[in-house]
Amino acid sequence: MASRATHVCLCCRVSAEDIREAVLQRGARNLEAVARLTGAATACLSCQDEVENLIQSARQELREAQKGQPLLPFL
Ligand code: FES
Repeated sequence: MASRATHVCLCCRVSAEDIREAVLQRGARNLEAVARLTGAATACLSCQDEVENLIQSARQELREAQKGQPLLPFL
């Protein structure tokens, strides 16, 4: 897990970049897969909506990359 990044999932110390990496580089496409790979959203679940939003953003980034369009910065 990233050490300098702000954690999206405080329980499991998972950052937005960890979630992005799970989607873009490790093939996760939904909450269950990201949870399995990173541990995010596996405890109190208060981060679940934010994790879902990050997954959708990363999937959009992936679709744009596959279309050959320039990538937008991931926030
Ligand atoms: S903050 Fe993510 S499971 Fe609690």
